Amino acid sequence: MDKIKEHFEQEAHEFDKIILRLIPYYPQMLDALVTSIPFPENKKIKVIDLGCGTGTVSKKVKEKYPSSRIHCIDIAKNMIEIAKHKLSNYPDITYENADLSKYSFTNSYDVVLSSLTLHHLVTDDDKINFYTKIYHALNSNGIFYNADNVIGSNEPIQENNMIHWKEFMQKTVSVEEIEKKWIRKYNEEDRPAKLINQLNWLKDIGFVNIDVIWKYYNFAVYGGLKK
Ligand SMILES: C[S@@+](CC[C@H](N)C(=O)[O-])C[C@H]1O[C@@H](n2cnc3c(N)ncnc32)[C@H](O)[C@@H]1O
Repeated sequence: MDKIKEHFEQEAHEFDKIILRLIPYYPQMLDALVTSIPFPENKKIKVIDLGCGTGTVSKKVKEKYPSSRIHCIDIAKNMIEIAKHKLSNYPDITYENADLSKYSFTNSYDVVLSSLTLHHLVTDDDKINFYTKIYHALNSNGIFYNADNVIGSNEPIQENNMIHWKEFMQKTVSVEEIEKKWIRKYNEEDRPAKLINQLNWLKDIGFVNIDVIWKYYNFAVYGGLKK
């Protein structure tokens, strides 16, 4: 986790610009994530944003759900500082500098959201254990949705995913930078899991109404509800 923390500490100030060039249709993906919330817009929902980064997800939640109470968590202090600045109009948002791989939830939530973060949990078991913790932290009828980098069900599908991801990046990033910098970081730091497995884990944990509500090759927004 030290390497990942260092990466995001260093990238924090450039993050909002870089992410638009690297992640296909990032704004649309986050819009889909926020549309997963099934509650009326005036409800005082309790939300946690796991790996909040510079606060983009929380900002979208606050714009749609002004009465929501949001808790933001991130391992990188510099990302949290930028989030605090971006969200300075919302003084009721709380922040925590913590490592999710060692995290214990101390509160319960109506909505657990995460974007481009949980693929940093290293093994399948780490992800299953963490999704189980999320389930226990949810209130009844609460939802968990994750917007993340995922793996295709077999090698040909995954190869096709990678082709389309690289094609997207090539619109604004050189082939050399993609391969030497971004795909290298992806191979070194990212541990995405097969989407199909993750949906099965959610079912085994007890989630219902599991679905994939947005997808572009190896990026997907998926989750479910706790009855
Ligand atoms: C790619 S950024 C995504 C930020 C934000 N969710 C977004 O979509 O714009 C990933 C974020 O997850 C954080 N992160 C990675 N591993 C983490 C961990 N183990 N615990 C807490 N935060 C973590 C990083 O510091 C970074 O801010």
